[in-house]
Amino acid sequence: MGGGNSGSWVALREDDGRAYLLLREPGEVKIKGLGRFDAKALLEGYSVGDRITVGQKSLTIVDPALPEARRNMSRRAQVIGAKDAGFLISWMGIGVGCRVIEGGHGSAGLAMHLANVLGSSGVLISVESRPEHAEVGRDNMERLSQVLPEFPEWHLIEGDMGEVGDSVRKICGSLDAAIIDVAEPWCIVPSIEPLLRAGGRLACYCPTTIQLEKSWEVCKEHGLVIEWAGEVIERKWVKASKGGVRPGNQPMGHTAFLLISAKVAPTEEE
Ligand SMILES: C[S@@+](CC[C@H](N)C(=O)[O-])C[C@H]1O[C@@H](n2cnc3c(N)ncnc32)[C@H](O)[C@@H]1O
Repeated sequence: MGGGNSGSWVALREDDGRAYLLLREPGEVKIKGLGRFDAKALLEGYSVGDRITVGQKSLTIVDPALPEARRNMSRRAQVIGAKDAGFLISWMGIGVGCRVIEGGHGSAGLAMHLANVLGSSGVLISVESRPEHAEVGRDNMERLSQVLPEFPEWHLIEGDMGEVGDSVRKICGSLDAAIIDVAEPWCIVPSIEPLLRAGGRLACYCPTTIQLEKSWEVCKEHGLVIEWAGEVIERKWVKASKGGVRPGNQPMGHTAFLLISAKVAPTEEE
């Protein structure tokens, strides 16, 4: 067992995956599910990889990553989870160095997934119209920035996503990707499409079929081509008590339809 960096974040992980984020610094803290203690004193003599007992719980000390940060995030609005965020990131080609806009930011569910893949050379612009949601999202992102080894240049714009053109141009010129998660995505598409570079992608997150259809129409009207539309269905399997594995009792229900479009050159006039 060794020392460990003072002031650094660690996660205490239960064997089932539940995790508690802890800042290794002096002073009493109250961690929901674990109790009240001085984190520095508790971790004294322990290193990442060690097992530690806190109250009745036996936990492994690990370096926190996105899953641990997400398990500890505060939530206000409905968040986009790994099922849809992972799919969007891969299909939209989002990775190191990309310039991405997302909104509504809400509690930062999607933004945390994006920040995790953009690296320090990426730019992430989040837009949120409700200050009380922006505050929750900002707290989650600030903590994530202390946990991840690299974090993008992050801007949180408090306002309407339909009116961010000038700010986006000032921050990064044009965009590689845009993800719209507001009640009426079709109202936002017209002002975001001009900000995309040629080949850039725009996605709409649409809980209902009406949202999907209206967004689809508006994307087409603005010259975007639809690359993928539909929903991702997730079915988790479990170990059966009498042996074997089988689908669990709690399948993830519907989250949203995803609409992914791309910007291409306008067709030539005859
Ligand atoms: C479902 S939540 C977003 C969840 C978020 N994407 C996540 O993964 O955690 C929708 C958010 O959009 C915000 N919103 C609605 N209309 C907006 C607009 N025109 N511009 C910016 N934000 C907007 C709402 O305040 C709300 O916080």
